[in-house]
Amino acid sequence: MYLFKEIARLQEALEQEKTAGRRIGFVPTMGALHEGHISLIRTARSVSDIVVCSIFVNPTQFNDPKDFELYPVTIKEDILKLTGAGTDILFLPSVNEMYPEGVNAKHRYYDFGYLETVLEGAYRPNHFQGVGVIVHKLLEAVQPDDLFMGQKDYQQCMIIKRLLELTAIPSKLHICPTLREEDGLAMSSRNMRLDPRARQIAAQISQTLRYVKQNVRSIPFPDLKQNAAKQLQNAGYQVDYIEIANADDLALLNEPVAGEMVALAAAKLGEIRLIDNMIIAKP
Ligand code: PAF
Repeated sequence: MYLFKEIARLQEALEQEKTAGRRIGFVPTMGALHEGHISLIRTARSVSDIVVCSIFVNPTQFNDPKDFELYPVTIKEDILKLTGAGTDILFLPSVNEMYPEGVNAKHRYYDFGYLETVLEGAYRPNHFQGVGVIVHKLLEAVQPDDLFMGQKDYQQCMIIKRLLELTAIPSKLHICPTLREEDGLAMSSRNMRLDPRARQIAAQISQTLRYVKQNVRSIPFPDLKQNAAKQLQNAGYQVDYIEIANADDLALLNEPVAGEMVALAAAKLGEIRLIDNMIIAKP
């Protein structure tokens, strides 16, 4: 695996591959890699000639500075995992390399519309602008044919879909299934920060989403959401939201619709905020 820290060096190397007609697949990450990330690399491996992964903990997408400071950094382990999964290129830029204009400079504004006003958008002001800025920069650096992202961050995937439209970047977005621990907890870098007691409770978020999914056509939505929130609270979670939305546009629903729906939740165990979602397929 080659490691580049500068955009110019990365692009020189990729230019040769592109000229040779090779298909470039890209997996952007913030490191602290787990099996969920590795499954993205494997999927990228299966459709791309060259697999590029980036590790960059992006300061502009953290609305909570403490969350940024405490974000786990495990570069040595990440490099071993990426090598083992057959990654060709790791892009590991510095903050200066990605933000030569300064992190606090005025960045481009992306009109994500309604998508930025609900759920994560409502609870994490400016988060998706930060995601937009960095993913746009990374896509300009790598110019991949294919881009791989995890369904665990459902709303982020929709934001990136919109970003590709807004910027007319022709990369194809592949949304890959969420990987779960044995007890159902969605894999996430933040899980590393759960203490043993919190880790024991954590899987309740997926159990509650499964409860919502199983009862979506039998219990009225207001009751269903209230029961779900209670389940999480009883387990020890502090709930930000538990919602059922239209899977295509994230319009929040008060009753079932004929198309695909998605149940989404965000809740905190102490300081650690977890999110998860489950698709509710059409009947
Ligand atoms: O999902 C993530 O890890 C990040 O939000 C991303 C897409 C790498 C942008 O920093």
